[in-house]
Amino acid sequence: MSDDASFHVPVLVDEVVEFLRDSPPEGEIMDGTVGGGGHARAILERIPDSRILAVDRDPEALERARSTLEPWSGRVRFLQARFDEAARGAGVFGPSLRGALLDLGVSSRQIDEDRRGFAFRSGEAPLDMRMGGEAEGGPTAARILNEWGQEELARLFREYGEEPRARQLAAEVVKRRASQPFSRAQDLLNAMSVVHQRPLSAKEKARVFQALRIQVNDEMAALEVALPRLRKALLPEGVLVIIAYHSLEDRIVKHTFREWSRDCVCPPGLPICACRGEALGELLTRKVVRPSATTEVERNPRARSARLRAWRKAE
Ligand SMILES: C[S@@+](CC[C@H](N)C(=O)[O-])C[C@H]1O[C@@H](n2cnc3c(N)ncnc32)[C@H](O)[C@@H]1O
Repeated sequence: MSDDASFHVPVLVDEVVEFLRDSPPEGEIMDGTVGGGGHARAILERIPDSRILAVDRDPEALERARSTLEPWSGRVRFLQARFDEAARGAGVFGPSLRGALLDLGVSSRQIDEDRRGFAFRSGEAPLDMRMGGEAEGGPTAARILNEWGQEELARLFREYGEEPRARQLAAEVVKRRASQPFSRAQDLLNAMSVVHQRPLSAKEKARVFQALRIQVNDEMAALEVALPRLRKALLPEGVLVIIAYHSLEDRIVKHTFREWSRDCVCPPGLPICACRGEALGELLTRKVVRPSATTEVERNPRARSARLRAWRKAE
């Protein structure tokens, strides 16, 4: 396994490249989640003369991408930023991108690093989970567990974590923190064990940790803000490709692309069309694209939940 593969194995690479290849020849492609640079590398290798604006909020990921993409350095600009702020940060005002890619969530490397607290394998991992590290500010996972109200915690566990005992878990967190604040992964695992009264599967644990990570990094809001900004930054016929790993994120992408692709957005019952009257672009994926179970998921189990959707801006 190469160094790149141990950092993160990119998913649906052929599909990403094919959608982005079919875009205007001028302008940059923004990889808003460059991570270890796997997708960016494939784009640079396979789309001649393509140029990339490589963005990540995590300085360590960006460092890694710099080294992976070194052979193409003349065709890449790097920017440490959130993807919803990146266009402005890179001086992209008005339509100038031929394409944009968001491969949401965290990389395998981030999950594997105990000190950052994204996973639960080591009970000693701190409940931090900020992708941008301390410099980006914002609350840690521990702070959310120690400070949020019981109702808010229950909603978080239920909506982002699909935790069936969300209310009981929130109550247990509030009870426990009164005597001992939450600081390590094990504190949360202990609370979950008491609530469920049985050994929990890795998947059940992962869902609750993922819910906290999504909240710490404000991931749903970042996506909702980023989509229209990216659409505006695209050149006519520019292509937007999004890979989501959480059903709520995928739902945001699906509804947004569908809405942008409709000719008429008037409320039903209006006698004549009073809206813009023409679609902003076209859906390139009538059905969501999933990795093949036999080839890709077998090789890379973390690809299992990936869902890709693509959209092209009108001429
Ligand atoms: C699934 S990984 C991307 C892997 C990458 N496509 C590759 O081939 O190596 C997601 C990356 O997005 C970054 N990220 C997540 N949310 C972000 C945001 N709002 N703004 C910028 N980067 C973000 C994470 O730090 C992580 O490095």
